[in-house]
Amino acid sequence: MRFEPRDVRLKNGTVCTLRPAVPEDAEQMIAYMKQTAAETEYVLRYPDEVRFTLEQERDILQRLMEDPQAVMMAAIVNGQLAGNASIGGLGPKRKVRHRCSLAIALKREYWGQGIGTAMISYLTELAGQMGFAQIDLEVVADNARAIALYEKCGFKMTGRRVRALRFDDGSWHDELIMVKLLTKEQEGANETL
Ligand SMILES: CC(C)(COP(=O)(O)OP(=O)(O)OC[C@H]1O[C@@H](n2cnc3c(N)ncnc32)[C@H](O)[C@@H]1OP(=O)(O)O)[C@@H](O)C(=O)NCCC(=O)NCCS
Repeated sequence: MRFEPRDVRLKNGTVCTLRPAVPEDAEQMIAYMKQTAAETEYVLRYPDEVRFTLEQERDILQRLMEDPQAVMMAAIVNGQLAGNASIGGLGPKRKVRHRCSLAIALKREYWGQGIGTAMISYLTELAGQMGFAQIDLEVVADNARAIALYEKCGFKMTGRRVRALRFDDGSWHDELIMVKLLTKEQEGANETL
């Protein structure tokens, strides 16, 4: 989906622009996926699993831009792609069409400047405008920085998927399931929400 670009001032005074990722970003996007996969264990892919060709990535970004149920948001600092965050609907089936799922990752040099907070705040606004009733996400249980960010942004932990991930070093990792409700009706929701 297309949306209005938004400038936010970071903790170090730099301006960061949040704007739709466009097909012209494809090359930077592939490099960013490889970099973040190498810098943190908390994204799903290992660097060798980032195998998109330029053409495939362009097509994906084009489709996402035209998809009314999806937002692919790029964070640009001094002309560079600092990170990316997205929401995507679970699909048109009536039982699940109220839900969307959130993902975010920044290059390491941009952590701790408030970009994550700004992106989730804008994505939450857009998810509400798109008619979603809640945002779901999964986070590795030992990813303290991401969990702190999500809690700060109003997400609540609702469950745990045991041994959701196995890293190359053989270690097992649980995932936490978190949700942020966007509508006032609490019917059916856990009372802690
Ligand atoms: C998780 C991630 C998106 C956070 O983005 P960010 O821009 O660094 O987050 P912010 O600067 O907005 O910080 C958000 C909060 O995190 C918390 N935080 C910061 N550093 C922390 C640390 N070392 N430990 C725990 N919490 C920390 C703070 O509460 C901060 O809020 P504050 O600004 O009010 O102090 C980013 O670190 C990242 O891309 N990590 C790698 C990929 C990843 O883990 N993605 C999530 C997968 S589910």
